[in-house]
Amino acid sequence: MNINYDERIPNNVDLSTNKTLQRALEHWQPRFLDWWKDLGPAVFQNNDVYLRTATSVDQQGWATFGMVKMPEYRWGIFLADQKQDRTIGFGDNIGQPAWQVVPGEHRSTLRRLIVTQGDTEPASVEQQRALGGSAPSLYDLRNLFQVNVEEGRHLWAMVYLLHAYFGRDGREEAEGLLERHAGDADKPRILSTFNEPIRDWLSFYMFAYFTDRDGKFQLKALAESGFDPLARTCQFMLTEEAHHMFVGDSGIGRVVRRTVEVMNELKTDDPTRIRAAGAIDLQTIQKYMNFWFSSALDLFGSEVSSNAASYFANGLKGRPDESLYEDHVAAGEYALDLPDGQGGVRSESVSMRNAMNEVMRAAYIRDCENGVKRWNKIIEKGGVQFELRLPSARFRRTVGSWANVPTDPAGNPISPELFGASLPNWIPMPADQEFVASLMHSVLEPGKVAAWIAPPDRGINNMPVDYEYVRVS
Ligand SMILES: [Fe+2]
Ligand SMILES: [Fe+2]
Repeated sequence: MNINYDERIPNNVDLSTNKTLQRALEHWQPRFLDWWKDLGPAVFQNNDVYLRTATSVDQQGWATFGMVKMPEYRWGIFLADQKQDRTIGFGDNIGQPAWQVVPGEHRSTLRRLIVTQGDTEPASVEQQRALGGSAPSLYDLRNLFQVNVEEGRHLWAMVYLLHAYFGRDGREEAEGLLERHAGDADKPRILSTFNEPIRDWLSFYMFAYFTDRDGKFQLKALAESGFDPLARTCQFMLTEEAHHMFVGDSGIGRVVRRTVEVMNELKTDDPTRIRAAGAIDLQTIQKYMNFWFSSALDLFGSEVSSNAASYFANGLKGRPDESLYEDHVAAGEYALDLPDGQGGVRSESVSMRNAMNEVMRAAYIRDCENGVKRWNKIIEKGGVQFELRLPSARFRRTVGSWANVPTDPAGNPISPELFGASLPNWIPMPADQEFVASLMHSVLEPGKVAAWIAPPDRGINNMPVDYEYVRVS
């Protein structure tokens, strides 16, 4: 279905036929724009940016590209097309017709799921707001802004559901999404990762790779939901999310490539010399990876969770790629490795439904491995002896069975003293952050790229790499 751009709020949900909803959303729209101006990108708000905008939601070319000033971006409401006679695909209600309205008994749970997802979208824009002041190239600056406007649209997606299906409390929750702010001492964002500062572009790429990928898995699980409008909303959000994964994956790959080049030019693997030459040593890249990966793992929740079990049982939230599983009732057992409380590890078998968070986290980790393999190929091709590794899912956790259990990055339980003493080798310390910050300077000449990162392989939408992706002059 094509998107109607003649209206104040572009949409493919026939908004004009529901005047009450239209008015409520038109009332929210100026608040969103105020938020965007106050807490969206701190610079280049009035410059033309080469951005894609959705024009239809089907697979072929849903996006058109053009020069847009960010505050004029056409944020709107886009749902994937409705599937005729869709049924619930898992849990105790399997085979029953998907819900087109919110079932009363699941109302507060669905609202909480939508608010929690919705809260992450503007949070990431807030976390990234200062990065435009130190972009390594116009290409990267454009990608940052593309991610930012799309996270803004994802907020619209969740606000639409709240307004359209949850009445007055939905409207209040939509206000709250603009009132909490990333890192705010009084009104922080709901999930801790979304309050972490994103200080530099290395962190940005890590965030886009690891944290946006958590978003991808949450959206995949919600795209299975028996609540059909939520499923359709998330299906379309996933098509936008793919670019965010690419920005993270290719960004980290380019940093690694540049480091390997410098190591070969200088014939050294000494981090001090690599840093002196203006590249980021692989050990520091590993530390950033350890930090953002372990932080993202917490987002999946506790290993054993009765909430997760009831989301699944009730058909509210499935497993990512539910259709690939054979048993959609999830009747089996799942083996967990848990801390034994005495510095060791014990095995426990729990019901599959209670282990849903862990099932999802395991699928996420497998997906994360793909990028690590690609980055290691770059290192190997460069003839350098070094292997980047995802830390264990037990490492540095603050949520679930492994929360505050000291382990090394391989997941071996260790003493709190050893953990404390070793942590500076495992995650970025202020000195590492200061070094990375020292490299962050804007490079705004078309085709030029900062010295700490390799240029991209190709441009956006078949445009040349040296295209002026943001008109800064
Ligand atoms: Fe998003
Ligand atoms: Fe994203």
